[in-house]
Amino acid sequence: MISSKSRVDYQQVVRSISQSMVRLHRPERLLKLILRYLDRDMQVSHAGMMIFKEGREHFIFVGSRGKGRIPASLVKFEKNHPLVTWFSSTKNKKNSVGDYLSYQGLQRNLLEGMKSLPSSIISDWEKTASVMRTLKIELVIPAYFKKDLTGLLLIGPKKSAKAYDADEIGFFEIITKDCAIVVKTTDYQRELHEKNEQLQNHLREIEALRQKEQKTYYEIMRSLASEVYAKDVYTFGHIGQVDRLGYMTAKEMGLDLSGRRKDILSAGLILHDVGKIGIPDHILNKAGRLTEEEWAVMKTHVDKGAKILEPLSDFREVREIVRSHHENYDGSGYPRGLKGEEIPIEARIVAVVDAFHAMVSTRCYSKGRSPEFAFDELKRCAGKQFDPRVVEAFVSAMSREMRKRGVGQMAEAAPI
Ligand SMILES: [Fe+2]
Repeated sequence: MISSKSRVDYQQVVRSISQSMVRLHRPERLLKLILRYLDRDMQVSHAGMMIFKEGREHFIFVGSRGKGRIPASLVKFEKNHPLVTWFSSTKNKKNSVGDYLSYQGLQRNLLEGMKSLPSSIISDWEKTASVMRTLKIELVIPAYFKKDLTGLLLIGPKKSAKAYDADEIGFFEIITKDCAIVVKTTDYQRELHEKNEQLQNHLREIEALRQKEQKTYYEIMRSLASEVYAKDVYTFGHIGQVDRLGYMTAKEMGLDLSGRRKDILSAGLILHDVGKIGIPDHILNKAGRLTEEEWAVMKTHVDKGAKILEPLSDFREVREIVRSHHENYDGSGYPRGLKGEEIPIEARIVAVVDAFHAMVSTRCYSKGRSPEFAFDELKRCAGKQFDPRVVEAFVSAMSREMRKRGVGQMAEAAPI
């Protein structure tokens, strides 16, 4: 029987282990700590802990302590190792004492069962006994999580050479069971963390690919827009300048251009006529007035442009600008007859910049008008075709720019 002093020591060990379980998140460290307790306080000659490594499909040593300990780095148990199959195969368990395996008990059972048990069982038992003898193991305590064998605590003989009593074995079983729970829980957490990391990485990769794809598509759209400007003799200047002037107007109006807002405005200014790529050249470049039918075709460029931009999910707002840049402030525009604030502000800016340049650009059959003439026209149409606030900001910003460049260079400053 165990002495009362030893009982107190056990409680102390259990308390220390419990505290460590709370403190330590890495089960390997915890298991090593437990082995140290066993070695120091339990008077075992050596002890070792093996845990099952998911994925690697075998048991590995997480540590061993004591004199004559098993060389941990050299040993691993495959699933068919006699000490593993002992606990994973039920035919042996019913012949052992309790859930653990004792070398002394096994030897006794071997002697008793030699004549009565089938030779296959005797052979298995002899193999197991042989392994225990080689590794100098007196007790093997299994750890289960649910029904899976997750670990084995290997205990050498007592330093005193006496047999382990029921209390001591019970204590080994408690800590082994607790270890199994800690190991499994940590494994689950680690697995969950890893899966989460993998998922995050996949999402990042997908997002990077998506952005790359969108960027490529945007570049294609940009060059398409350049094509439109190149083939449309009524359009004027370079798209980079359109972008600059629209931005200047938005700034003059004190619009919020933080974050994506600036990109949205810029893309709207650059791409607003991209749908003209789908308009036949004979209509697009017709020198005289368009017939009613031709005009109806020309008007479709806004919806065509919006359709072209559909795959750009990041540019939903840009699509709206492209679709709305021929809407009039008083609701008389196309394609939907939107009015006032219903029209995106960027589209109202595009409308003013677009009209200004239609007036000042030199066309194949007429010379461009002066900026002053264009300003007057914009002001005359403010409140009808154009948003008055946009006209005011545009004229103000443009005039200032022209003054900065000098009166003599007004004509150069205006067309873009
Ligand atoms: Fe247009």
